[in-house]
Amino acid sequence: MKEKLLQLKEIAMEEVKELSSIKDIEDYKVKILGKKGTLTDVMKSMKDLSNEDRPVIGKIANEVRDSITLLLDEKYSEIKEIEKKDKIGKEFIDITLPGKKNKKGGFHPITETMYFMEKIFSDMGFDIADGPEAELIYYNFDALNIPQSHPSRNMQDTFYFNSNLILRTQTSPVQIRYMENKKPPFRMVCPGKVYRSDYDATHSPMFHQMEGLMIGKNISFANLKAILMEFVQKTFGDKKVRFRPHFFPFTEPSAEMDVEFVTDKGTKWLEIMGCGMVDPAVLKEVGIDPDEYTGFAFGMGIERIAMLRHGIDDLRAFFENDMRFLEQFK
Ligand code: DAH
Repeated sequence: MKEKLLQLKEIAMEEVKELSSIKDIEDYKVKILGKKGTLTDVMKSMKDLSNEDRPVIGKIANEVRDSITLLLDEKYSEIKEIEKKDKIGKEFIDITLPGKKNKKGGFHPITETMYFMEKIFSDMGFDIADGPEAELIYYNFDALNIPQSHPSRNMQDTFYFNSNLILRTQTSPVQIRYMENKKPPFRMVCPGKVYRSDYDATHSPMFHQMEGLMIGKNISFANLKAILMEFVQKTFGDKKVRFRPHFFPFTEPSAEMDVEFVTDKGTKWLEIMGCGMVDPAVLKEVGIDPDEYTGFAFGMGIERIAMLRHGIDDLRAFFENDMRFLEQFK
């Protein structure tokens, strides 16, 4: 029995050397020390020994088991160490490689143009105002002297929530809201989103406008011209401008302002905004005495200004959000 045990130990010493994975070790442990393992078998048969032999053999058996266990533990650490080194080798991080760069963001060209325009007007003392995009018919049309029969009120042009509430078609209603709450003199601009039921290469159902309003004593068309020419000069540099008579229900007289641009095919007048002296009917509606106060208003499309500033010729580029387009404005 003693020989058997020692032989078992000898064989184990050789076999453990050959093990090469954690799985091998686990399997081997079961094979020798498990419930049906070789050593366990030998130990089970100890009950047949005489009372004198049993403690002697038992001691040897324990020693054999301990030394095999120790051997396996050592092999286990050895393999673990190799696996760890292997893993480190494979996962080597080259700290000399450049890191991942975070891309720097930028404003959308519409936002950038809007801020640019706000700055010009706030430098001239204009307040920056805003108003709701879901607007009452009263503010969007009625208070602005727009007749019941005006085509812009049509379902084909305006998005209606119900007979009272629409998506505003212009930023002009903010004029009314502003005048209801402030006493003249004042000057304000209001940038924001507007909506019209329109979609093609030059029209988007949502676009941006900037409205302007200046009310005070003795405000004249000369003041309107001075402010708007200053705006054009700051935005496009020294350019010829002209005011063409036009009609808007909320201003009288009204005009459209054109700027002369030089192209390869010669010079071209481009309309950039509508403007005029606030109609006395609009002032009366908000409780401002038109005999005491006068003023002017103007409204322009921000997309238009952005296109002219940056030489963009398709309106849709602003809304497609192609990163190759947007990244040029950082
Ligand atoms: N609200 C006009 C539009 O959407 C633009 C406009 C024209 C605004 C003349 C004004 C103005 O304040 O005086 O076409």
